[in-house]
Amino acid sequence: MPVNLKSIIDRITQIHKSKDTIGIDIGATSIKFAQIRKSGETFEILLCKSVENPPTLVMATELTPELREEIIKNIKQTISKEGIKTRSAATSIMGNSVIVRYVKFPKMSPEELSKSLRFEAEEFVPFDITDVYLCAEIIRDVEEEGQPKMESVFVAAKRDIVDTKIDILRDAGLTPVVIDVDSFCVLNLVEQIHPTFVDENAVLLHIGARMTSLAISEHGIVRVVRDIPFGGNLISNFIMNTFACDYSQAEALKKQYGLVPSEEMESAPDPEVAEQVTNASIQAIDEHLIPEVQRSIDFFNTISTSGEEIRRIILTGGGALLKNFDRYLNRQFDIEVSPFNPFEHFEHNLPPEVIETGPVYAVALGLALRKSGDTSAVRAE
Ligand SMILES: Nc1ncnc2c1ncn2[C@@H]1O[C@H](COP(=O)(O)OP(=O)(O)OP(=O)(O)O)[C@@H](O)[C@H]1O
Ligand SMILES: [Mg+2]
Repeated sequence: MPVNLKSIIDRITQIHKSKDTIGIDIGATSIKFAQIRKSGETFEILLCKSVENPPTLVMATELTPELREEIIKNIKQTISKEGIKTRSAATSIMGNSVIVRYVKFPKMSPEELSKSLRFEAEEFVPFDITDVYLCAEIIRDVEEEGQPKMESVFVAAKRDIVDTKIDILRDAGLTPVVIDVDSFCVLNLVEQIHPTFVDENAVLLHIGARMTSLAISEHGIVRVVRDIPFGGNLISNFIMNTFACDYSQAEALKKQYGLVPSEEMESAPDPEVAEQVTNASIQAIDEHLIPEVQRSIDFFNTISTSGEEIRRIILTGGGALLKNFDRYLNRQFDIEVSPFNPFEHFEHNLPPEVIETGPVYAVALGLALRKSGDTSAVRAE
């Protein structure tokens, strides 16, 4: 599902037809870098690296000039330290700044769609239409009530957010060749390396620090995409409130215990603490994640064309590393839940401590698989 917002941006005129793209996922807690080489059917990881952001950025509600400089400095330093030769970079956006809808447009030519996209978009975009970049990727032709239609994925992204990402890459000395959406990056990655993914209906949950990107795929076609304001930070906030401790202590407790199952509680290092961490985490998940995922699944069931049930929930992002998260979600939804470690599907030479954090790199790896110009998205005129 390649949607490249960058290809719709007029002010970038020089698109490098580079074979080699570095994926840079600029998250709240860390910046993830990935580079992949594909030879035949084999994918080899050339680089996978995560650089922590200062704690002020994790808690920040807006990107101040100082924080922006910090990100640029981190990117520049990594590029030089890792000896990265390519200057072509792919990055992504997510959250409230981007709206993705599965839309059936009346059958028309790409030129006509391009002309009418702004008008069609009025219905879906809650922002001033002049403040967004618009594009649509046509999936396939269908017929509805005797009328020829085009199944499409429609994307509207706030200009200022996209431009900020582009400027950060440029100021770090890179050439932005792809601007993608987090959910599509994960979809792109899973589609390319998970052999049975397109045979079933699945929910992808990419759980970061501030946001969870949700996508529901029906036999490989994305039908629902939305971001949920839930992430590892929220769990840490609940733990902070329970223990009246600071952020770093809450993070440490969360990572040490995760969700301890009741039968293992007694054997935990400190059962009382284990129970409190588990309860605080479950409260955050129950209040802020479960109802939103359920709502998306219910919505999907109303628009599903296959009539088949969702078979799997695939977990990625740092939030997916929470111990026993998969077991807990499995019990809540009665759907198989699989944490997705991309490194199981690649050739690599990575150390064990990086391998065990594989789900964190899903967006960066999905970006690294992108090439400039590998999209047929129609942009708004
Ligand atoms: N072992 C672990 N157990 C529980 N949570 C973890 C673990 N490791 C990392 N996390 C959590 O994962 C989150 C960071 O994940 P990730 O790197 O995907 O987010 P990000 O990309 O920086 O944030 P965002 O995408 O929201 O901007 C943090 O909340 C962190 O506490
Ligand atoms: Mg992220």
